[in-house]
This record gives sequence, structure tokens and C-alpha cells, in this order.
Amino acid sequence: MKRVDDFRLRFGRQELVPIVIGGMGVDISTAELALEAARLGGIGHISDAMVQTVSDRRFDTKFVSEKMKKYKTNAASSDKSNVHFNLAVLEEATRYHVGRTMEAKRGDGMIFINCMEKLTMNAPRETLRMRLSAALDAGIDGITLSAGLHLGSFALIEDHPRFRDARLGIIVSSVRALAMFLRKNARLRRLPDYVVVEGPLAGGHLGFGIEDWAKYDLHVLVAEVLAYLKSEHLDIPVIAAGGIFTGGDATAFLELGAAAVQVATRFTVTDECGLPDKVKQEYFKANEDDIEVNTISPTGYPMRMLKGSPGIGAGIRPNCEAYGYLLDASGRCAYIDAYNREIELHPEAKKISVKDKTCLCTHMRNFDIWTCGQTAWRLKDTTRRLADGSYQMLSAEQVFQDYQFSVGQQIALPPPVAAP
Ligand SMILES: Cc1cc2nc3c(=O)[nH]c(=O)nc-3n(C[C@H](O)[C@H](O)[C@H](O)COP(=O)(O)O)c2cc1C
Repeated sequence: MKRVDDFRLRFGRQELVPIVIGGMGVDISTAELALEAARLGGIGHISDAMVQTVSDRRFDTKFVSEKMKKYKTNAASSDKSNVHFNLAVLEEATRYHVGRTMEAKRGDGMIFINCMEKLTMNAPRETLRMRLSAALDAGIDGITLSAGLHLGSFALIEDHPRFRDARLGIIVSSVRALAMFLRKNARLRRLPDYVVVEGPLAGGHLGFGIEDWAKYDLHVLVAEVLAYLKSEHLDIPVIAAGGIFTGGDATAFLELGAAAVQVATRFTVTDECGLPDKVKQEYFKANEDDIEVNTISPTGYPMRMLKGSPGIGAGIRPNCEAYGYLLDASGRCAYIDAYNREIELHPEAKKISVKDKTCLCTHMRNFDIWTCGQTAWRLKDTTRRLADGSYQMLSAEQVFQDYQFSVGQQIALPPPVAAP
């Protein structure tokens, strides 16, 4: 019986273990997690979501408080259109986050950065161009474009000296989205180096409708994308993502013709993952009916999360002066509208609840939206229960190597921790 280690992902002459740890913003896929994937010969992602906040946490910079100071007087206003990112600061924060991570890289693997188009930051083109080019300047091995169609993203960096040598890829959930991306970018004569096909069981935002996501199947989507690329005579590695829980699941996709798998949920309960330990225990404890796909993200995309996420229904004042990553090109965010509606409906209330949208920046920053893949309820089967009823944390190496070397549906449990 084959296992993942019988396959390799090839980029030119470079060979990698075909396991990619997907980007998990905001700093859930930390540098430490990505560095482990690279050390073990695969690919790890950091994410540039809320990079100024991440830099403050990692390097004690003061980007958030400085932005807040600048826009303090606007906090009580519902009009956020004048809250802008300073591009030079955005560049500095990206360079810190990416540069320090790349300096620490060991081993034969690679480190990519996940860039979500939906982080429109009240100036979508300018901020995305800066995020992409600063990451390239700081030496990132590759960029994965996500959460959006990214029809114009390659063009934003076509003059960058690394445009043709860095690995650039895109996440899609349909042949249609891929075909559109390729058509729009044909004039650049630069194909993506890889295409991640993400199915409906993934964590984070989904590229499907709230009504129809359950009708899709990753095996079918991957087969469709492979057939499309073949019919177009395009040789682009396809990476399958979403709901791949065991080495056997991963091997099945590699046998189908995928070049690699992208996995995330199993790494949320590792030491290197950025979630606080008590949140990791919530992931371990989750049962199948504790997981839902809802529409509270202001991005407009459905998102999967644990129903117990403290950010669901919270009615906090929008924090755009400090963050503001989801402000669209005219400085609006669906949460601001929902919040103002509730304030108008309950003018006397000390505390309000906003049920239909959430302040995603604030709650992702505080690890209060517990997004996860559909398989999160199986995490408890990947470890041991400790005497106090909690679950034993895993290391990224254990999980990575379980995907790489296990056969069939087997999952290797971690060695028991010695009793104190
Ligand atoms: C906690 C969590 C956060 C995620 N955040 C992002 C993100 O910021 N951007 C993105 O493109 N995908 C995100 N994803 C999706 C993953 O990168 C990955 O493609 C997917 O979850 C793989 O499926 P699996 O979790 O079932 O293994 C996230 C997934 C999880 C579990």
C-alpha cells in the first residue's frame, strides 16, 4: 500500500515532501509552524493577515497603537472612510514578519505567505501591491493568493524583479475560477506555479455558497481541475485541500494525480500553532454538531467555525481605527452597518448583540472566532487523554510525519507524556 512519502512535489529541479501546511490567519499558522514544515522538507505558510498586529506581537513594534493614536478622534464615528493604512508602515511590518521568518529557515522545504484579496484595507490595489512586493523583497519563497479571484494580482507585481522566480500560486474552488484567472493573466506569459483546489470541508472562508457548499466533493473538484489542465495542455501542479485528515486520505489524492495536499486543521492542536492552549482544548473537545458554516464574516464568504466561538453574536464597537483590514474601497464594512443598525434599534441598551455579522478583525486578532475544518471533531482521536481530562498537545513534527508515513486510515498517537 502506498503512502505520502512515496510521492514528491516537483518545482523545476526542486523536490519536496508533498505536504503543505495551509495559511491560517491571524497568526494561527505561525512562523514556528511554517518553519517546522520547511525543516521537514514540505511547505509551510505564514499569513499576512493583520500583519501590523502580528509584528507588534512578535517584535514588540507599536504599529497598532500608532495607527489608533492617529485616528483616535474618529472612533465614535460610523464613517470610517478616512481611516487609511500608511503604505510605508505596512511595508515595514511585512518585511519584519517575512524577513525574520526567512532568516530562521532551515532544511530543504519552503515557506510561502498566504495573501487574502478580501483584506481590502480601504485601498485594495495599493495595499495588496505593497503586501505582495514587500513579501517578495523580504525573501519569501512563494505567495499563495487566496480569498478572492485575484484577477489583477499578478499584474500588480509584474515589474517586480522576483515576479518570475518566486513561486506564485492561487487557491480556487472551481474550474471556472481557475479558467478566469488564466484568461485574465494570459498577457503576462506567467502561469501560476501551483493551483490549490480547496473543497467544501476546509477551515476559514469557503469559496462556495452558504446554500450549496455541501453538494461539492473535493475528489470531483480535483478531477475536474486536472482534466481541464490536461485539455489545455497546461502542466501546473494541483494541490488538494479541505478535509484531508489521514495519510491515507492524502495518498488517495496523490494517486488521483494531485501533486501535493494542503492541510491545516490537524495542525491547530500543535505546540507551534498560534491559538492559545485553552482554545486548542476546545478544538480537541469539539463534537460534529459543534461545528457550523455561517455567514457572519463581513467578507461575504461563508466561514466554518465552532459554534462556541466567543466572537459569535458579540456586539463590540468596530475597531477600524486600530485594524480596519476589511474596509472596502469606500471605507465600508458589513459589520459597521450591522452594528449601527443594532445601536439605532436599541438606543438605551448598555450592551448590544450583533447576530448576523462579526467584527472579524478584532475577534480573529483575539482568537475569539474559532475557525476550523469540518474534520475538527476527529482531533480527539489523534492524541491521548490526560489524567486531568485534557488532551495531550501534539508537535507539528508528529502530525507532519503522521501524514507522511502512515498507511491507510491509521493515525499514530504521540508518545505518552511522563507522569509528573
Ligand atoms: C484555523 C484555520 C484558519 C484558516 N485561515 C485561512 C486563511 O487565513 N487564509 C486561507 O486562505 N485559508 C485559511 N484556512 C484554510 C487552510 O489554509 C486550508 O486550505 C484548509 O483548512 C485545509 O483543510 P483542512 O483544514 O481540512 O486540512 C484556514 C484553516 C484553518 C483550520
